[in-house]
Amino acid sequence: MTETSRSRTLRVLDWFDRRLPLTALWRTQLSEYPAPKNFNVWYLFGSLALLVLVLQLATGLFLAIHYQPNPQLAYWSVLRTIQRDSHWGWLIRDMHVVGASAFFVLVYLHMYRGIMYGSYKKPRELLWLIGIFIYLALAAEAFLGYLLPWGQMSYWGSAVVTNFVTAIPVIGKPIAQWLRGSFVIGLPTLNRFFIFHVFLMPVLLLALVLVHMIALHQVGSNNPDGVEIHDNVNETGWPRDGIPFHPYYTVKDLFGVSAFFVVFFWFVFYRPDGWGFLLDKLNYTPANILHTPSDIHPLWFFLPFYAMLRGVPDKLYGILAFAGSFALLACLPLLDRNPVRSIRYRSPLYKLNILAMPLSFLWLGYIAHGFATEHNMVYGLHVTEIFYATFLVLPFFNKPRSPRATLTWLILAEAVVWMIDVWMYSIHAHGWGLMLLTDWIPSLYLLLLFGMALLRPAWTRDAASLPERLTAGGIFH
Ligand code: HEM
Repeated sequence: MTETSRSRTLRVLDWFDRRLPLTALWRTQLSEYPAPKNFNVWYLFGSLALLVLVLQLATGLFLAIHYQPNPQLAYWSVLRTIQRDSHWGWLIRDMHVVGASAFFVLVYLHMYRGIMYGSYKKPRELLWLIGIFIYLALAAEAFLGYLLPWGQMSYWGSAVVTNFVTAIPVIGKPIAQWLRGSFVIGLPTLNRFFIFHVFLMPVLLLALVLVHMIALHQVGSNNPDGVEIHDNVNETGWPRDGIPFHPYYTVKDLFGVSAFFVVFFWFVFYRPDGWGFLLDKLNYTPANILHTPSDIHPLWFFLPFYAMLRGVPDKLYGILAFAGSFALLACLPLLDRNPVRSIRYRSPLYKLNILAMPLSFLWLGYIAHGFATEHNMVYGLHVTEIFYATFLVLPFFNKPRSPRATLTWLILAEAVVWMIDVWMYSIHAHGWGLMLLTDWIPSLYLLLLFGMALLRPAWTRDAASLPERLTAGGIFH
């Protein structure tokens, strides 16, 4: 750049800076934002989620131009006008479909990273809570979008969910009627779902993500060691273990973006339906209100919750189990009050429990993917109990426990599980024989966890001390 063009650029920048603090924003948020120097691969998923949010907004805009929110036209506007007749319509639609699933993969990994490294603990409780609201908004956005192609699964999936809402006492029926805009799913439902999907939820999501970023930059990033970098600063006030976000992490994130795009576009070009997981096979048939499919289930990212709804033999309690799982996530800062943040320095049994959390969630998804047989429903109930248990046992790990306290925890936890099961038998929705045969599943988990704590108290002890400076560590620990 010549001297004259450089001074011209500076003058233009100066003109902007007097009116809008562009340079100051760049400095405080990027080039002078101290980020811990030991971010690993788990720290890519937040930026990738941001990228997918932008992709979804951009592709969604083009889809909305051709989409017709009318039951007579919706299916063909997607499958013919967009997929076949518009230039690059197939690409835009497949990117949007694959993008929806990618969003959930990234957000689930992002949340699990937060759980592993204790990013929900002081001072990041509010940041975590805002994240939970983002997740709820994202779930609503995906649910609303699923009705739009007006295929068989869109129609019947939405019918099942709005029907579940009717189980909420007093307000359930009016809410379901308001959601549908009628007594059944039809034109008014499609119109309002379309508007909520393209306008209301994206605006809400954008606002929440902005607040998420502001909260993050207020408290600063956590890291895989869970050690606060701002507690150890040099004479100028810069954290000794901090590096400027730009260029170090912008470059690292760019590498992550490239790797992500390889996988993302592989799906877009070769398997946009994800073997029926990203786009249900039944959705290639237009909605028929006179023909209920033999098996109705949501897309993969909602399957675990569907297993909870199906497993609890009462609609209202099912909804409570479903809502309770979000409440548990939101209550993590209250449940886990151990001062050690990162899983790296937590006890072996705590690690086991943190591993059981996503495993039981995946197991629930696997169960819900099967048919709604009694066998699958009962398993759904018991694995829901394990998923709940992985959260509710967290206070046990808050401080060292005596053998007597451990035994009390074991007896109480087993009693609660058995009480719930007896209560479920009393509802009589499932056969007693099958319930009794499968009761051991959550009981065994609790017995394993607390039994090992009794036999090997050392396995409940966290690391004796935390490192003073950040360490490199590995990806998975
Ligand atoms: C649209 C969805 C989301 C986007 C775009 C997003 C974006 C981000 C970004 C860019 C970061 C900083 C980079 C990083 O730490 O990876 C971050 C950090 C964080 N996010 Fe999210 N996020 C989303 C959803 C969530 C959800 C659902 C939760 C939890 C329920 C959550 C909790 C957190 C926490 C606790 C941090 C700080 C982590 C740390 O410093 O260790 N986020 N988010």
